[in-house]
Amino acid sequence: PGIYEELLLDLQGNILKGHGRDHTVHLFLQFKPGQVEPLKDWIREFAKNITSAHQQAAEAELYRTEKIAGKPFINFFLSHAGYEYLQFRSFQIPGNQPFRFGMKNDTIRNLLGDPVIEEWEPGLQEEIHALLLIADDNLVSLLQTVNQITRTLYLMAQVVHREDGFILKNEKGDHIEHFGFIDGISQPLFTKSDIQKAKTSDDFSKWDPRAPLSLVLAKDPNGKSEDSYGSYLVYRKLEQDVIALLDAEKDLAEKLGVDKELAGALMMGRFRDGTPLTLADKPGGDYGNDFDYSEDEKAYKCPFHTHVRKTNPRGDTGRVISSGESFEDALKTERNHRIARRAVSYGETDYTNSTSTGSGLLFLCFQADLENQFNFMQAAWANASNFVEWNVGVDPIIGQTGPGADRNQKWPVAWGKPEKSDQSNTFNFGLWVHMKGGEYFFAPSISSLTSI
Ligand code: HEM
Repeated sequence: PGIYEELLLDLQGNILKGHGRDHTVHLFLQFKPGQVEPLKDWIREFAKNITSAHQQAAEAELYRTEKIAGKPFINFFLSHAGYEYLQFRSFQIPGNQPFRFGMKNDTIRNLLGDPVIEEWEPGLQEEIHALLLIADDNLVSLLQTVNQITRTLYLMAQVVHREDGFILKNEKGDHIEHFGFIDGISQPLFTKSDIQKAKTSDDFSKWDPRAPLSLVLAKDPNGKSEDSYGSYLVYRKLEQDVIALLDAEKDLAEKLGVDKELAGALMMGRFRDGTPLTLADKPGGDYGNDFDYSEDEKAYKCPFHTHVRKTNPRGDTGRVISSGESFEDALKTERNHRIARRAVSYGETDYTNSTSTGSGLLFLCFQADLENQFNFMQAAWANASNFVEWNVGVDPIIGQTGPGADRNQKWPVAWGKPEKSDQSNTFNFGLWVHMKGGEYFFAPSISSLTSI
C-alpha cells in the first residue's frame, strides 16, 4: 500500500479512471518566446493544483458518501515541443517515437490516414506545447477557474485553441456519443472499485476487463524517483456527421431488408443501447461486457468490420491468423493493444443540416506505448481492409483511408446470417467521422513539475 500511495500521489488523475465530470475545457497552449524561466515558476506553482490519482479517488469517495460536488479537476499535459521548450531531459522511450514526431508529421499522418493539415481546425494547426484540461460538474465554476488560470498565463503563453466538451446523455441518463450509441462500456479496468462494479454484472468468463498498470503507465525520466510515472495521451478532434451516418443507416437497412437499428449495429457492432450484435439481433438485452466472438467465428452475426470488433477483436486475431503462436500468447499480444478511452463530446447534435457538422467527439486515450496501442489500433485494425480475414473493409465509424482518399469508396462485405451472406454484396461506406486535428502528449508525474 505504501508504494501505491506514493505512486498515486505523484500520478495525474484521469489515467487509471475517467474523471467523470460533466463539463470539460481543453486549453491548447503555445509558450511565448523567451519565457522559459517565468513558465517554470508558473508550472512549479500550478502543479499543486493538478488532481492526482490519489486525490481523484479520495474525492470520488466523498462524492459517493456526502454527495458534495468535487473541486475542479485539473490535468496538465506536455507535447514533445513543450518538453523541448522547457529544456527537460529528453524522452528516449521505445514505442513512443510518434510523441517525438508529433501528430502533424507526414509519416504519422500517412500511417493514420489523417487529412492534410490545411483541413485541420486552424488553432490545431499551430505548434502546441501544452494542454490544460479543466473539468467540473458545475459549468459556472468551471468557467471561473478557466478565466483565473488564463489570466495567470497571459504574459507567458497564448491559448491557440480551446475546446469545450461535456458528457452527452440520452433521456435515461446513459453516457452516449452524437450518433446516439451508449459509449464507455468496455474499458480496461485498473481500480478495485471499477472491477468490483463490473463483477456484479459479468463474471469475466469470456472477457476479462482487468488490466495491468503497465498498459497505461510509462516511466517519467524527469520525476522525483525511479518510481515516477506518467502516461502518453492521444488527443484527436473527431467531427461526427450525424446526418450522413443516419442516411447510410437508412440505405443499408433498405439494401439488406432489415430495420435501421440493426443496420446501425452492423456498423458499430453494438445496438444503440449497448447490446452486442454477436449475442442478439435486436436491442433490449442486458448483456454486459462479458462476451467474445468465439461463437461467431465466421462473423455471420457481427461483421469483422464493425467498430467494436475492429478495436477489440476479443481473441479473433489469435483464432484466425495462424502465426505459429499459441492462442493464449496471441490473446496476450492482442490485449496489449488496449487503450484507456477518456473522450467527451462537443457541440450540439445536428440532425438538420448535413453541411454543418459542428459536433463530435474530443477523443482522448491513455497508453504506455503509442506505437503498439492507439497507432496500431487505428492503422492496423480500423483503417486496414484486411483484418482477421481478407477484404473485410475499414471500420465504418473511424476508419480513415488517407489524405485525398475517395470518400465514396465501396467495400465488399458479407452481411448477416449465413443464408444472407454474399461476398459480392457492396455498400457505399463514406466517412462520417472527420479528423480535425490533434496531438500526442505526455502526462508528466506531478513531482517532475513541482521540481522543474
Ligand atoms: C467502443 C463510438 C472513436 C476505440 C465504442 C463504442 C462506441 C464507440 C459507441 C461502444 C461502447 C463501448 O464499448 O464503450 C465511437 C465514436 C467514435 C469513436 C462515435 C468517433 C467519433 C474511437 C477511436 C478509437 C476507438 C478513434 C481508437 C482508435 C474504441 C474501443 C472501444 C470502442 C477500444 C471498445 C471496444 C471493446 O472493448 O469492445 N466506440 N468511437 N473509438 N471504441 Fe470507439
